[in-house]
Amino acid sequence: MERVVSGIRPTGKLHLGNYFGAVKSFLQMQKDYDCYFFIADLHSLTTHPKPADLHANVRSVLAEYLAMGLDPEQCALFIQSDIPAIPELYAYMNMNAYIGELQRSTSFKEKIRSQADNVNAGLLTYPVLMAVDILVHHADYVPVGKDQQQHLEMTRQFGNRFNRLYQVDYFKEPQAFSFSGELIKVPGLTGQGKMSKSSGEADTIIFNEDDEVIRKKIMRAKTDSGPTEENQEKAVEIQNLFELMALVSEESTLVHFEELYAKCQIRYGDLKKQLAEDMLQFIRPIRQKIRETERDDAFLSKAAKIGADKANESANKTLKEVREIIGFRKFY
Ligand code: ADP
Ligand code: TRP
Repeated sequence: MERVVSGIRPTGKLHLGNYFGAVKSFLQMQKDYDCYFFIADLHSLTTHPKPADLHANVRSVLAEYLAMGLDPEQCALFIQSDIPAIPELYAYMNMNAYIGELQRSTSFKEKIRSQADNVNAGLLTYPVLMAVDILVHHADYVPVGKDQQQHLEMTRQFGNRFNRLYQVDYFKEPQAFSFSGELIKVPGLTGQGKMSKSSGEADTIIFNEDDEVIRKKIMRAKTDSGPTEENQEKAVEIQNLFELMALVSEESTLVHFEELYAKCQIRYGDLKKQLAEDMLQFIRPIRQKIRETERDDAFLSKAAKIGADKANESANKTLKEVREIIGFRKFY
């Protein structure tokens, strides 16, 4: 079966955008591919999290992905720092990554601007670590958004360079995984762009939030003064509400409000009330599962162990082969 590798950032609680833009595809992929999904806690050290926060974030993300349906029996779901082969391979691969190419990476240039007071070497070599995450499992596919395309290109470059340096045909070229159809982009509630944790609390619908909070956020979403002529084009913030409705409401509900809008009879208060109720219907069972899973230490521990075992088996095999190719031989 073809292999898929994907890293998950251990930041924050999952929101509706994460679910429809990433988790849902992971749920499908775990059925169709040999998947290695991991929580990228080594990568996150570039921002110097406090030890207690690091652990709490990893734990919360692990619980959320499990609650949403990632199945440790179907895919390898693991924590990156549970795989010692990764930092070892990272050390080897750093020897044939060039400073110039790393400095030219868009994400590094962006970090120099956004965290000028903490431009550490880990940021510079982030693409090497990411390449190792992928190459260590000989991935065929990596589901990546636009912002990660360059990292994937560098991964192929590092793999090919290793092959050339040692005159082997060892690492294969991983390809970007494209989902069938358009990638879904979930809009935020404040009418600007896509839902994202960096665009503020009011913008996001977070799974692990109480009914009242979710209701309030939706009721406060910006609207305009309403259509004045029939079949008028919708303003962005109105279009966004309809898009959210399309994700969580019944088809007939959507059609109903579309018709009211087209006839200039829409009352946005009603639309938002309905959206809030449908959203809660959708969120509640998942939230319930998240809360149960977060409390279930035995399950979390078992899941992390199964994932680590699967990933270590694959990574240790690669490490052994790479050490042989490089020329390390034991004297004892
Ligand atoms: P955020 O944008 O909140 O910082 P991340 O960058 O951590 O979220 O994204 C994790 C995953 O969720 C990525 O695969 C990303 O493409 C997806 N994702 C995040 N927000 C959205 C959104 N609004 N619509 C679709 N996918 C999204
Ligand atoms: N860099 C990715 C991000 O910021 C996370 C990541 C780390 C990753 N290693 C990976 C993604 C390997 C895919 C494959 O989202």
